[in-house]
Amino acid sequence: MRTDPRLIAVASGKGGVGKTWFAITLAHALTRLGRRVLLFDADFGLANIDVQLGLMPAHDLGSVLDGGVPLADAVVRHPDCGFDILAGRSGSGALSDLLPDRLEAVLAMPRNGSAGYDDVLLDLGAGIERGVRRMAGLSDILLVLATEDPTSLTDAYAVLKLHRMDRPLGDSRIAVNMVATHAAGERTYFTLRRACSTFLRFEPKLAGIVRRDDKVRDAIRRQSPLLTRHPACPAASDIEVVAQGLVG
Ligand SMILES: Nc1ncnc2c1ncn2[C@@H]1O[C@H](COP(=O)(O)OP(=O)(O)OP(=O)(O)O)[C@@H](O)[C@H]1O
Ligand SMILES: [Mg+2]
Repeated sequence: MRTDPRLIAVASGKGGVGKTWFAITLAHALTRLGRRVLLFDADFGLANIDVQLGLMPAHDLGSVLDGGVPLADAVVRHPDCGFDILAGRSGSGALSDLLPDRLEAVLAMPRNGSAGYDDVLLDLGAGIERGVRRMAGLSDILLVLATEDPTSLTDAYAVLKLHRMDRPLGDSRIAVNMVATHAAGERTYFTLRRACSTFLRFEPKLAGIVRRDDKVRDAIRRQSPLLTRHPACPAASDIEVVAQGLVG
């Protein structure tokens, strides 16, 4: 029996902590676990999933929001990785404000069981503006990505706090990226969890810890997926553990 796909959003508050790379690589890892995945570029400011993957799709989210192109025609399948991608359109920030109902209708399309996806992964933009917050609020699971950087921690906390207000019973989880060791990642997680527990009275789960790895930069520079290019590197195995946690 088919169930509706899960909507998993990746947010961080702070920019540049690895959301887009994380979302791409997680989509790939979930696909390898047999899940049917749509990766949805929901960064209205600086959409760049297509850039990180070296794709040049004919259509994007903007074409769908404009109403001219059906979602199925705007989605492209990654030739090697096997997951589907809806590219974003840079500089389309106004779209999220002008077309809230339309945006939610577009998000509802892949969630309709007939689209055949198990997971729809949203790469959100940085910041906590209305559009980002609303997309996070629609998710079944919100993955909040943080690094050890104190400004990343405070921004991740702000995302968790707003999501708690929007979805008091929502499932928000913390993923820690770019740490030297798993122990360092756990310390970062515990710091954030303590703040949530003290001030928000809830304890987000740990979605996973991803180590800093030069192979990530190399894969992005070559516009090729990390799990294909460097399948055995530390960051690749860490993302695989995150994917298993989401499936298991
Ligand atoms: N685990 C990691 N190890 C090493 N470098 C990483 C890791 N994760 C991400 N990076 C680096 O961080 C940079 C930023 O990544 P990315 O563009 O995915 O971040 P982002 O959070 O989506 O940024 P933005 O907020 O601008 O959308 C990339 O160039 C990548 O090289
Ligand atoms: Mg990004």
